[in-house]
Amino acid sequence: MGAHLSTTVAQDRAFMQIVDGKPVDSLSGERIDVVSPSDGKVFASIPASGAADVDRAVKAARRAFDDGPWSRMPAVERGRCLTRLFQLIEKHGAELGALESRDTGKPVRQGKADVVATMRYYEFYGGAGDKIHGDTIPFLEGYTALTLREPHGVVAGIIPWNYPLQILARVAGAALAMGNTLVAKPAEDASLSAIRIAELALEAGIPEGVFNVVTGYGRAAGAALSGHPLVDYVTFTGSPLTGTAIQQAAAVNNRGVTMELGGKSPQIVFADADIDAALPVLVNAIIQNGGQTCSAGSRVLVERPVYDKVAAGLAERFSKLVAGPHEADLDLGALINSKQRERVAGMVAVAEEAGIPVLAKGSVAADAPESGYYQAPVLFGSVDPEAVIAQDEVFGPVLTLFPFDGEQEAVALANGTEFGLVAGVWTKDGARQHRVAKRVRAGQVFVNGYGAGGGIELPFGGFKKSGHGREKGFEALYDMSATKTIVFNHG
Ligand code: NAI
Ligand code: MG
Repeated sequence: MGAHLSTTVAQDRAFMQIVDGKPVDSLSGERIDVVSPSDGKVFASIPASGAADVDRAVKAARRAFDDGPWSRMPAVERGRCLTRLFQLIEKHGAELGALESRDTGKPVRQGKADVVATMRYYEFYGGAGDKIHGDTIPFLEGYTALTLREPHGVVAGIIPWNYPLQILARVAGAALAMGNTLVAKPAEDASLSAIRIAELALEAGIPEGVFNVVTGYGRAAGAALSGHPLVDYVTFTGSPLTGTAIQQAAAVNNRGVTMELGGKSPQIVFADADIDAALPVLVNAIIQNGGQTCSAGSRVLVERPVYDKVAAGLAERFSKLVAGPHEADLDLGALINSKQRERVAGMVAVAEEAGIPVLAKGSVAADAPESGYYQAPVLFGSVDPEAVIAQDEVFGPVLTLFPFDGEQEAVALANGTEFGLVAGVWTKDGARQHRVAKRVRAGQVFVNGYGAGGGIELPFGGFKKSGHGREKGFEALYDMSATKTIVFNHG
């Protein structure tokens, strides 16, 4: 480990995964091409791991948990390691942000914002792990009963491609703060930043075998990891279908899971809302990261008296949005891969063919490479709330807009999908703010604002098909540990 000490680390190279503190190739020697979505060109490669590689990494994490210092170290010492990792990420921030943008196609400012949020995760969990403690419980005469919060053991983290740095930090920060060891499997489309973070974790003094990164396809490495008998807990962010597969694999060993499975999050705009304040927030909530955000605000529900005004304001903004290469730092970048672009373009085409009115479309920059995976933003109006485009997660820059009459209908429509991750409520009426926030089935509700991205302190997770378990904030520390009760008989 010496290469990463320089300020600029080569991006165009064969990357190795980090297992037991060492950079290693896949046991088979097979590799996956790393593509920049901005031009569709290969610039690096990662190991294509299979079950044997996963077994090697899980056994390293198992040994580090069972025999190593990590789980027995005072929480404050573990916290200092995470704090040093936060400082190293800050030091290498420019490099990490540029790498993330190139690997995922996101505009450079979004790559930078992701680094800032990532730093904040390690900073928060670096300071939080030693503030978690158990209880003493009044019990029978002659007894003392107390609880400890103990780590699960080996945590498997299966990470998606939309916010690779941030979601890895969300998992690793909480898991490591509680004394677990980790095997992370980043997405095959965006693994480079995870490899760099695992390298920096070693430099921060996190012992070998504690922070492992195994790269490879979901159906090979991901499946082997979620069903490995030496894994104690599985956490996943991604699609509901893959979430089901991972839960089934973990169920073979009866292991606990945290699932964050996306959403179809509503933003409810009442007639009394400050519409000028709402408009840019409504646009950003679906355009950020090209709409490839689990918490994207993909449905806007507008009270009928202001529907035309909101529709016109959104249409004006949508028509000016431009997608282009990450270095150009436009409103949005490319989508992650050709499959995702085809999925989004296909859903748009089906909705258009069904006669759903297109209120506005953005554009793709004229000089954007033909070989990149670009999708112009689309605003659909007067959408039937039951239409596929208003029910299914698109995971692209596609916004559906429809009117409602009164608070009761607003809540029914907001709750009228299988998902329940985030919601936005726009109104100046204080009593209504409280009523609606309580009646909406979502893990986070924002009143006169929107955005799950910041707020590392704020518990996050879904109801219904959006998943279960809570991440971020102190809640993640409970998810990443289990209560042990100890009873002393001194009667
Ligand atoms: P995915 O959910 O299949 O992939 C996410 C992660 O799961 C990747 O690391 C992948 O390698 C892994 N994986 C895939 N199959 C697996 C399996 N059988 N066992 C274990 N791990 C497995 O998502 P995909 O196919 O890349 O994208 C499809 C759709 O999923 C998107 O259009 C979007 O709707 C949704 N999605 C939602 C995300 C969110 O943040 N909620 C993130 C990524 C995708
Ligand atoms: Mg890539």
